[in-house]
Amino acid sequence: MDKNLGRTEVLLNEKKLYKPSAKTLKHARVKQYKAVAVKAAKDPEGYWAKAAEELGWFKRWNTVLDASQAPFFKWFTGAECNIVHNALDRHMGTPVEKKTAIIWENDAGDRRKLSYAELNREVCRMANGLKNLKVRKGDRVAIYMQNTPEIAIAMLACAKIGAVHSVVYAGYSARALRERIDDQAAKVLITSDVGFRGGKVIDMKKVCDEAVQGSPSIQHMVIHRRGNMPVSMKMNRDTYWDALVESQPDRCETVPVEAEHPLFILYTSGTTAKPKGIVHVHGGYMVGINRTFEWIFDIRPDDIYWCTADPGWVTGHSYIVYAPLMAGITTLMFEGVPIYPQPDKIWKVVKKHKVNILYTAPTLIRTLIKFGDKWPKKHDLSSLRLLGSVGEPINPEAWRWYYNVIGKKRCPIVDTWWQTETGMIMITPVPAMPLKAGSATLPFPGVQAAVLDDNGSEVPPGKGGYLVIKNPWPAMLRTVFRNEKRYLSTYWEKFPGYYETGDLAHIDKDGYFWIQGRSDDVLSIAGHRIGSAEIESGLVSHPAVSEAGVIGKPHPIKGETAKAFVILKQGYTGSEQLVEQLKLHLRKEVGPVAVTDEIEFVDKLPKTRSGKIMRRVLKAWELGQDAGDTSALAD
Ligand code: WT7
Repeated sequence: MDKNLGRTEVLLNEKKLYKPSAKTLKHARVKQYKAVAVKAAKDPEGYWAKAAEELGWFKRWNTVLDASQAPFFKWFTGAECNIVHNALDRHMGTPVEKKTAIIWENDAGDRRKLSYAELNREVCRMANGLKNLKVRKGDRVAIYMQNTPEIAIAMLACAKIGAVHSVVYAGYSARALRERIDDQAAKVLITSDVGFRGGKVIDMKKVCDEAVQGSPSIQHMVIHRRGNMPVSMKMNRDTYWDALVESQPDRCETVPVEAEHPLFILYTSGTTAKPKGIVHVHGGYMVGINRTFEWIFDIRPDDIYWCTADPGWVTGHSYIVYAPLMAGITTLMFEGVPIYPQPDKIWKVVKKHKVNILYTAPTLIRTLIKFGDKWPKKHDLSSLRLLGSVGEPINPEAWRWYYNVIGKKRCPIVDTWWQTETGMIMITPVPAMPLKAGSATLPFPGVQAAVLDDNGSEVPPGKGGYLVIKNPWPAMLRTVFRNEKRYLSTYWEKFPGYYETGDLAHIDKDGYFWIQGRSDDVLSIAGHRIGSAEIESGLVSHPAVSEAGVIGKPHPIKGETAKAFVILKQGYTGSEQLVEQLKLHLRKEVGPVAVTDEIEFVDKLPKTRSGKIMRRVLKAWELGQDAGDTSALAD
């Protein structure tokens, strides 16, 4: 067992219970968690069928769960639906039509509001535009855009016609984008001419040109015009978004698809260099995210909801775009840095838009703490009713600050544990539950989770182990795109019958879950999940580098930072200049999130007999810890 399980000691001391207020209890959608969870556990299919009935379907299902090909589970088989029917169509002709669907704001204070009717019109026009580019049901469309309403419009337009969208986070390099485009054989790439972040202008089109150069699959690129800079347009391939939709009709039929029809592919980093294309489908996904969103955030019709994630991650897919729109509330998209130009930008936005629900990440909370209480104290934050956290474990200190200083002891904090693969939140409080600072509390009703040791036995309370999910859930990933073998080996092999999350956790005596991070070599830098191997292969692509091993080191703000151990090729010597060169190279090859804070030149790396770098050993050396079982070490 991994030695870093010891890290939980501090968390174990958190015993204080934070009880919900009478007001929270009164409004809670789930007042009796236990009763609901017990009932759902007894009849999960009945429970999920009931959740499904709250949504619109073109044709009802025959079977709720088909486990005959397990672990290739199928949900709501025989049904026809489309998530966009629920996110948009269903609201047309109702009072929701006039409500604000999206509020968008950027660093400079520019602002846009789109009503549901306006959003629907834009989605229809884009969907018609994509049809004009011969995008058909099942075709993959890559999206490389920043946090603007257009990224949501692009996603919804694809889904509406049954095309499969694959958003690639706009902080990735051309190489990373290319790898993802190639893997899924995307037909169209949607991007923008330029992007803006923290006062900087980013040349998006240039990155895309580099990424699609010589691509066998890309037929068209659609460019959303944001800047006034002229960009080079390739004849017959490139088209401006505005030109594409200009003469398109305002209406477009939503295409009914089978419940199991793929909705999107989203890539996550694994321990090997090649990212995994996680596949999600229309039917089960919409049921799972709708139910979790409404119950966990206690959604009310007039809520202004702000999730600070980027739409390029799964959080953005599920809980910025799809679930809030299905709920018919207002979702805020902020294209900017929450601490720019000053550390109270985030609070200014909360106050200005009277945000009721704020869903953010521990890394940001830790950054905000660093700047001091004076920044939030300058602003009226009384609109806030509920706070959320996601992406990595929230340390108790950060939790308490969030609770006391931001929520003024009034707002419950929902610390939501889930993954790109799970599609929906899995372990989380509902607001009526007593909370503990730093714990994601209990599995959502309908979800069964456990912590196992290496032999697959459940560990006793207070002991760390592997976090697994014991039963299928509707929003689960269906496979790894065109790689069933990898789906099986990554998630279902280690503990037969159980979904392996790859995380470590322990359960306390009250049954509360405490997540301890990844059991493999994935780094979590400022909330971004990055495979060591991806950074390593980025380094190795530099002419001076022969081999590299990358580990995560604890960091008070970012959660982790990357440190690289690099073996140089003969004829090269380590120098500070080379360190800078390598960092530049990483920025370009893998993207800014992957730049290592430290680079150390070494002669040798610890390896297994089969030649795999043992990062665990590197990490132990670096942190002065016991390396644990080193029997696999070559020498
Ligand atoms: C990994 C999944 C799911 C949205 C964002 C990340 C870590 C996520 C929590 C939490 C502790 C968390 C886990 C998980 N994680 N939420 N509330 N407490 N850890 O999606 O990139 O697929 O990463 O993020 O390690 O496995 P992702």
